[in-house]
Amino acid sequence: MSKTRKPLIAGNWKMYKTVAETRAFVADLRARALPLDEVDAVICPPFTALAAAHEELAGTNIGLGAQNVNWAPEGAFTGEISAPMLAELGVRWVVIGHSERRALFGELDVRVNEKARIALECGITPIVAVGETAEQHAAGAARDTVCAQVIAAFATMPAEHVARCVVAYEPIWAIGTGRADTPDGANAIMGEIRAAVEGLQDVRILYGGSVNPGNVASFVAQPNIDGGLVGGASLDPASFVALLEGAHQGALA
Ligand code: PGA
Repeated sequence: MSKTRKPLIAGNWKMYKTVAETRAFVADLRARALPLDEVDAVICPPFTALAAAHEELAGTNIGLGAQNVNWAPEGAFTGEISAPMLAELGVRWVVIGHSERRALFGELDVRVNEKARIALECGITPIVAVGETAEQHAAGAARDTVCAQVIAAFATMPAEHVARCVVAYEPIWAIGTGRADTPDGANAIMGEIRAAVEGLQDVRILYGGSVNPGNVASFVAQPNIDGGLVGGASLDPASFVALLEGAHQGALA
């Protein structure tokens, strides 16, 4: 392959799929041929389905991720889930700072930083999500917005720890709208992200926001884009496999 970084497709299921639906998804996926030598695949079910997903994924190379984590190892945090709890369930990836969590649940940059640290301590790879609003985009402030977010997310973290993370650039106006960014536009922002923090130069940076089997290759073909954080198009097994295949094709381009 012409890319040095192995592409990664992470399915962010959001608040979709019960335990039964999760088991059915993985059983369907296991029956298919997946290009896992060429592309890393991760699914991020809701917390309630993680244990079942871990069981069903046994013996596969498909990774298990969570969609959030608390910043503390344990404590009086009603309703929260800690990184050690996730690690015990076989979770090896976690999405941190998704724009839905930032906008709807008040997730602050300082928490994103703390969550990334505790995840790394527990052997879980953070997928740190950043992105600008439609207004910021229209005002030409995309670069400044996302660079400020990554600088805050990795503040005072040693470069060798930063290098163990994944970043997802998800313009908020592109999430769930069917209106993806252009591959060129996303690639340019990701170049700025790579330059913004020591340690990010060789990390995998995913594009997110209306990625689908038809456009994923055009994103992964870009030099700075190493895969996708995918919501809607990751929920169907056939579509998820098509995303993996598209990412593989894009990496060869
Ligand atoms: P989408 O969501 O693929 O449905 O646009 C992406 C995300 O929110 O991570």
